[in-house]
Amino acid sequence: MTTSGYGGLAGKAPNPQLNAQGKLQHLLDIEGLSHSQINEILDVTASFIDINDQSVKKVGDLKGKTVANLFFEASTRTRTTFELAAKRLSADVLNINVSTSSTTKGESLLDMIKNLQAMQCDMFVVRHGDSGAAHFLAQHVAPHVSIVNAGDGQHAHPTQALLDMFTIRKHKGDFCRLTVAIVGDILHSRVARSDIHALNILRTGEIRVVAPRSLMPPAVEALGVKAFYDMDRGIRDADVVIMLRLQKERMQGAFLPSEQEYFHLYGLTRARLQLARRDAIVMHPGPANRGVEIESQVADGPQSVILEQVTTGIAVRMAVMSMVMKNRQAKSGTDA
Ligand code: CP
Repeated sequence: MTTSGYGGLAGKAPNPQLNAQGKLQHLLDIEGLSHSQINEILDVTASFIDINDQSVKKVGDLKGKTVANLFFEASTRTRTTFELAAKRLSADVLNINVSTSSTTKGESLLDMIKNLQAMQCDMFVVRHGDSGAAHFLAQHVAPHVSIVNAGDGQHAHPTQALLDMFTIRKHKGDFCRLTVAIVGDILHSRVARSDIHALNILRTGEIRVVAPRSLMPPAVEALGVKAFYDMDRGIRDADVVIMLRLQKERMQGAFLPSEQEYFHLYGLTRARLQLARRDAIVMHPGPANRGVEIESQVADGPQSVILEQVTTGIAVRMAVMSMVMKNRQAKSGTDA
């Protein structure tokens, strides 16, 4: 498992997340998915949104299946919405407490997974600090087991990108006519990377990334985006503004002079938001640092869809888990 910079994982096989029929068996990355595959996931998500609005929020798609959540990095939204999604699909759910697991005694990630697989787990939802962790596991689990990437290092956060795309599609419709600005710590953000891939695949009119030079990946425009170092220019006439937090846990050394100066130059304030289109939506994957990248009145304001993103996360994760389970290989002697 190695990080190969912002461009992706070195040496990964083409579409390791697809089965022999080209269907999603794991969800590892947005890169490599087609326009129709993303739209199919968003369409299935819409059906689960309806289920989540009912008084009884339960369907049987994963009845009899076991889902294990393994989070080696902190999480509030992703971990809990994956758990809720699995339970609403009627799965049995194991939330592994990594800090009290035998990884603290030196057991490797792969050995841990193989032992859980021996307990007949059908799916692993994995967040890990190493870029490529989910790809690595997908290459080593049994054919009837699915891996879902809940964030790997600086590489990818595919379900976040899918819930972001669902939210944009719902509010704004056709991506071709949209200008989407992603603002903040682009360099360290797996969300930015997955969002950029998804927006490109969905043929977004203009994708902008806005950051100080120290937080902009080198050669970022090769990803099909326009780079802006001035916030006011970067969000002018945008339809969608996606704010990102400063990922200080991934910064070694001084990337910024101070949080106050960062907020002055790149914080989304009510005054600055007026530069975007009047009906622009404001998004943030969370956790948000109020007063650092976003003003409270904007985070809680009428253009914010931040909490709606969280709600949508449940339906997106239900859609992904339901789809990968249908597409995995049958376990010998059983149904799929
Ligand atoms: N958006 C997101 O990944 O949030 P958590 O780190 O709380 O899961």
